[in-house]
Amino acid sequence: MRVMLLGSPGVGKGTQAKFLCEQYHIPQISTGNILRAAIQSGSELGVMAKSYSDRGELVPDEVVCSIVKERLAETDCRTGFLLDGFPRTIPQAEALLTIGVILDYVVVLEAPIDEIVVRLTGRRFHLTSGRTYHVLFDQPKVPGLDDVTGEPLVQRDDDKEDVVRNRLQVYERQTAPLIDFYRQQAAKGKVNIAFVSGIGDIDEVKANILKILSK
Ligand code: AP5
Ligand code: MG
Repeated sequence: MRVMLLGSPGVGKGTQAKFLCEQYHIPQISTGNILRAAIQSGSELGVMAKSYSDRGELVPDEVVCSIVKERLAETDCRTGFLLDGFPRTIPQAEALLTIGVILDYVVVLEAPIDEIVVRLTGRRFHLTSGRTYHVLFDQPKVPGLDDVTGEPLVQRDDDKEDVVRNRLQVYERQTAPLIDFYRQQAAKGKVNIAFVSGIGDIDEVKANILKILSK
């Protein structure tokens, strides 16, 4: 199972990725999580990535492409993987093709912009694991604490409303064109593309994705 989740910031990629990776026993490759870990560690990569992500801009293609290339070469990716947040530009998608990575499914998650803003501004995050919650829609067992470790949840720096608005514009400009890119790949029989509504209950969205992937 080699699957990619495509959709705007806050549509639910990370939330659904967690379920799908458990279901199919595949690793979640989230460039956002990898870059946040680098930022947390204070490495050179992290300092550079923070200067982009704090403004809601994308990190340069060559940087993320080399991260993903290395990650996909690890042994746990041999039986499959889930890409969450990569590729998000045409050059990134082309780089995947160049290194010979074939995807089985591109699942496009969709939700209206007003819903997205509410989701992102209410999101809470467990920094070490990437586990995600929402103050209204997906509450932890104890408010403000991660269910597994009991550690405090934080708000992502890029989930402030002005940065969220810029991320959505960046998505429209740089990432949304990938939908047509993968439509064309699908027309050539190179991948399957499916559109799933990201609206509604988290379990309902999950069931709809599983229905498609199990075909
Ligand atoms: P990244 O971490 O990938 O952020 P993003 O794409 O902006 O996506 P999000 O993680 O914000 O949203 P999501 O779709 O995962 O939603 P979630 O499941 O959390 O990237 C961050 C930054 O890193 C980028 O801005 C860029 O700088 C850099 N970067 C990363 N990848 C890059 C790349 N390939 N190239 C260049 N730069 C890159 O859900 C959101 C909230 O909604 C949560 O609170 C959740 O609980 C809630 N929720 C989920 N589903 C539902 C539902 N059905 N109903 C109600 N609430 C829901
Ligand atoms: Mg995410």
